[in-house]
Amino acid sequence: MTDFRHLEVRPTPQTFVARVRGVDLSRPLEAAVSAELLAAWARHPVLVFPGQRLDPAALQAFCGVLGPFGHDPYVEPMPGFEHVIEVRREADETAPIFGSLWHSDWSFQATPPSATLLYGAQVPPLGGDTVFADGYAAYESLSPVMQELLAGLRGVHSAAPSYGPRGLFARDDESRSMRIIVSPEAENTETHPIVRRHPVSGRRSLFVNHVYTIGVEGMRADESRALLEFLFKHMTRPEFVHRHRWHADTLVIWDNRCVVHYADGGYEGHPRLMYRSTVAGERPAA
Ligand code: OGA
Ligand code: MN
Repeated sequence: MTDFRHLEVRPTPQTFVARVRGVDLSRPLEAAVSAELLAAWARHPVLVFPGQRLDPAALQAFCGVLGPFGHDPYVEPMPGFEHVIEVRREADETAPIFGSLWHSDWSFQATPPSATLLYGAQVPPLGGDTVFADGYAAYESLSPVMQELLAGLRGVHSAAPSYGPRGLFARDDESRSMRIIVSPEAENTETHPIVRRHPVSGRRSLFVNHVYTIGVEGMRADESRALLEFLFKHMTRPEFVHRHRWHADTLVIWDNRCVVHYADGGYEGHPRLMYRSTVAGERPAA
């Protein structure tokens, strides 16, 4: 499918992921090209751009095409690049992999990021895939009865299990190479609609995730656990999942409003380095 004039956009079999060629993201984009890029992104929430040479400055500059920068808490930015963090893992690191369970980035924020940009600077020869699941397809495949049951429900999101004083990162061993900030602020909660309507595509998607959604507003703990466990399992059924195998010099952009993702391992003994920026999003709306 390519009704695009400037870009070559090739959807993968699941169509929520597409590969894009024919553009050099290290240079300022003409308005017509960035408009096409945004149109492609509204159709394909995960865009993969192979063969890009981006340093942190170029990544930060390109990020501005998609919108204002997001606020990235709990991870120190790269020195000299306020809006870039390094997702880094050394060859001998043993601490849990950053982002290794299904999540949507910073969904505990009042206005979680719309996009995350991840650039493969140093990619291991095997393993280290990023795995994505399509939240639109997950929602659309539910029965009308289940869709109605979910309408109006709100998920409770919190960073506490990850970045709180008793969270995962507080228990890290010394080998962690990323500079992560553990804080009592992580114990705050935010609620968001479980069924979210995308402001650009107008489509509905499931907006809950294993890492940050800790309950359903107004439900007993056992009720919300049962419902959330069903949703988590449903969202990540194989037919909704795409596994991205990295090659160096590739940029991937994903839409946190309608996609969940995780970082896979399997590259022990090899370093991995990615540059990452986020784009500010809006308050999730039903
Ligand atoms: C992230 C993330 C996935 C990866 O940076 O938010 O989830 O494969 N990264 O490193
Ligand atoms: Mn992530």
